[in-house]
Amino acid sequence: MNNFIFQNPVKLIFGKGMIAQLSKQIPKDKKIMITFGGGSVKKNGVYAQVTEALKGYKTVEFWGIEPNPSIETLRKAIALGKEEKVDFLLAVGGGSVVDGTKLIAAGLLYEGDAWDIVKAGQSGETVPLAAILTLPATGSEMNRAAVISNHATKEKYGFTANYPVFSILDPETTFTLPENQVAYGIIDTFIHVMEQYMTTPGQSRVMDRWAEGILQTLIEIAPKIKANPRNYDLMADFMMSATMGLNGFVAMGVAQDWATHSIGHELTALHGLSHGHTLAIVFPGTLDVLRDSKGDKILQYGERIWGITNGSRDERIDATIAKTDEFFRSVGVTTRLSEEGIGMETINEIERRFNERGVAFGENEDVTGAVTKQILLKRL
Ligand code: NZQ
Ligand code: ZN
Repeated sequence: MNNFIFQNPVKLIFGKGMIAQLSKQIPKDKKIMITFGGGSVKKNGVYAQVTEALKGYKTVEFWGIEPNPSIETLRKAIALGKEEKVDFLLAVGGGSVVDGTKLIAAGLLYEGDAWDIVKAGQSGETVPLAAILTLPATGSEMNRAAVISNHATKEKYGFTANYPVFSILDPETTFTLPENQVAYGIIDTFIHVMEQYMTTPGQSRVMDRWAEGILQTLIEIAPKIKANPRNYDLMADFMMSATMGLNGFVAMGVAQDWATHSIGHELTALHGLSHGHTLAIVFPGTLDVLRDSKGDKILQYGERIWGITNGSRDERIDATIAKTDEFFRSVGVTTRLSEEGIGMETINEIERRFNERGVAFGENEDVTGAVTKQILLKRL
């Protein structure tokens, strides 16, 4: 196990009716900007609960943070926040609203254009923010990452922002999720765990089994949620899986990959595919092309998660990749570029972009533009 320092300061407030806790968490003298997406919170009663809980506070609302939040929209929110002199931010929605609000929190204390912060990869001081999460997927409610898109340049980058002070997770708020968002959320969570697990075995028994526990939970609950999307206990387990999948708890002292995410962001930037969907397309290709360096861990994953123990090394790896692809399809997403009308032009463009940026992803920093092309060719 590698040396590490771990600290996660987010206060997690979990369960039915817990949005009412808001007034106990935010000092009364704060001027709050509440940020929202496109309106799902009005249909599921979340907006009403938030408004009720914040009676007596000075608030201003910002609506319209879209999926894959854009710098174009967030600049408007920052301008409004500065004008209104807000000193607390409350994000209400999915990962996009939370991520967008993380940039607003940094942008409010920055003089220049907020895209500079994204490009720098790291924010400075921020206004405090908190989240009410309605979509289990990103882990943004308990981490300090944010991913922002730029429509003008068709770019999408992550940067390190600040943690929410607290996050409220009520599984009942997820009952209105459409089936595709549940599917993307399950896959996103699955791949977050994989990005921190699928490297080499023998680094940490605890991290491995913690990660495998989340993978097994997702595989167990995915068909049950499909059959019964309004089951509180299932959605509670889904929410906890997503939060635990990307809050640092499975990453202590172990190598991390993140190549699949970096490639997926390009597919979103170029074609607007949903984040979880891009991961389902790319990840089987990452396993396939990196079967030499990741082979021992693929075998462990195949055996412990899918019970694959027979055949040669390559046969077991192939069977494990096939099972993984099958799982993604079973939750209801396509896993091939061609199924989305994406072909060589995009593959060449992503290779070109990675070469131009001089990037190399993965735990061995060997996923270059050329290797990315091989990965995507496997997914045509
Ligand atoms: O905008 P509204 O009307 O709220 O509708 C949203 C949106 O259309 C809807 N939705 C959310 N909760 C709902 C609901 N609809 C009905 N009932 C509910 N309870 O779902 C749609 C998608 O929402 P979005 O927030 O975009 O989804 P998600 O949470 O998957 O976030 C995706 C974004 O997070 C980034 C992704 O790249 C993408 O930009 N990520 C952030 C990470 C992080 N901060 O650590 C890590 C991830 O790897 C990921 O990259
Ligand atoms: Zn993700």
